[in-house]
Amino acid sequence: MRNGAILPSIAIIGAQWGDEGKGKITDYLDETANLIVRFQGGNNAGHTIVVGDKVFKLHGLPSGVVRKGNLAVIGNGVVVNMDELLEEIDEVVRTGGSVDGLRISDRAHLVMNYHKKLDGAEEKYRGKNAVGTTKKGIGPSYQDKISRGGFRVGDLLEDDLLKEKIAFNVSYKKDLLKMMDAEECCCTVESLYEKMKGWRDGIGKYICDTSVLVNDALDEGKNVLFEGAQGAMLDIDHGTYPYVTSSSTCGGGICTGTGVAPNRIDKTLGCLKAYTTRVGEGPLVTEIPGEAGTELQKRGGEFGVTTGRGRRCGWLDLVVAEHASRMCGFTSLAITKLDVLNDYDELPVCVAYEIDGKEERHFPSSISKLERSKPIYRTLKGWKGWSDTAAVVKKGYDALPSEMKDYIAFIEKEMRIPADIISIGPKRDETIDRRREWWN
Ligand code: GDP
Ligand code: IMO
Ligand code: MG
Repeated sequence: MRNGAILPSIAIIGAQWGDEGKGKITDYLDETANLIVRFQGGNNAGHTIVVGDKVFKLHGLPSGVVRKGNLAVIGNGVVVNMDELLEEIDEVVRTGGSVDGLRISDRAHLVMNYHKKLDGAEEKYRGKNAVGTTKKGIGPSYQDKISRGGFRVGDLLEDDLLKEKIAFNVSYKKDLLKMMDAEECCCTVESLYEKMKGWRDGIGKYICDTSVLVNDALDEGKNVLFEGAQGAMLDIDHGTYPYVTSSSTCGGGICTGTGVAPNRIDKTLGCLKAYTTRVGEGPLVTEIPGEAGTELQKRGGEFGVTTGRGRRCGWLDLVVAEHASRMCGFTSLAITKLDVLNDYDELPVCVAYEIDGKEERHFPSSISKLERSKPIYRTLKGWKGWSDTAAVVKKGYDALPSEMKDYIAFIEKEMRIPADIISIGPKRDETIDRRREWWN
């Protein structure tokens, strides 16, 4: 831990294909944090936080906006849709959160309306090979960043540069959309300039060099939470390419996406759903077919926060979790949604794949191999007849059904990582905290 730090700096990263409950866990942990930092992705994310009877559904904003007094930082690795961010800010303030602590990196990139159109057009072009994106324009915005034509948030503060970039992008994107036979971009140089000036007025006060801000906070011994979006299996390099998002969702993304060096991240918490879900296309080895899959989807309320699409459901896959752990360096786990598995007689857990007659323990990079993979399961006993979450949480870990504790212990043993946080409901207080000395 850093000298003088009250608590370690902690990263929270999804261990599967997103929607593991990162928002809930970030909110739970940020009671003692000073800064909550998003480092990648954009408003393709949908993080749910339940506080009493209030439900916050955050997309582009860090979960830190729910508790007043925190700094909520959008790092340089994030892509920002300003129109939608402004709407989200209004909604959060209406729901009782606060954006006083919001800070946005001047190096973060913007998601433009034409990016959304291009996202839709690219998906259409791919036909049966469509990725199933959120159509939020995330991929095209990152494409512009990498090809060096994108708008950075800081450009809003530099009029001449802004005008120059607008002139280039309006004509370039019109040609591109025409080429793709897509819906035309109706903006003009003038209308886009006016719109972007509006963004400057609405957001300008939050723009700064967030790398300096976060590093200074770390120097002062403050507690920083890095809030991952999506999950390790949607990582552009290490996920199920091409069925991935366009950013680095794993550990390395924190450094490039915030300007904080690797040696400043003390702990990495893997957020692991007790079963598996994925939205959109791509392989899912432990997918549960038919009615049983629909039943788990219903029990877990597995519908996307951003697009409303039903999430495909499968049993827990430890080949996936191990891959995620290797890519992210999990030091411990937060296991979520264990309550959703109540009342099953048996719970299969995938420990390896059978590919072309051979057993494979490492997650393969080839999509066709993944499509040929069959799960090798260990079957654990389920737990029954338990519903009073509040009573269980009050009594602590020992009061959990013994079969649930066996399920948790099995995960810990297979992954060789402790499960420090156990989540058995969407609310803050439906959490069992097993953190040991190193957290204090
Ligand atoms: P995120 O994208 O990783 O933040 O996760 P989402 O918010 O997209 O999806 C997780 C869903 O599960 C949300 O509706 C949460 O309120 C809910 N949730 C989180 N933890 C638990 C839990 O332990 N049990 C139950 N039943 N729901 C949970
Ligand atoms: P949170 O942070 C689940 C998925 C999309 C699609 C793929 C690419 O809530 O866990 P994109 O729009 O990013 O180009 O889509 O990634 N996806 C998510 N799935 N949770 C998310 O975020 C996701 N963000 C993107 O469904 O398959
Ligand atoms: Mg989500």
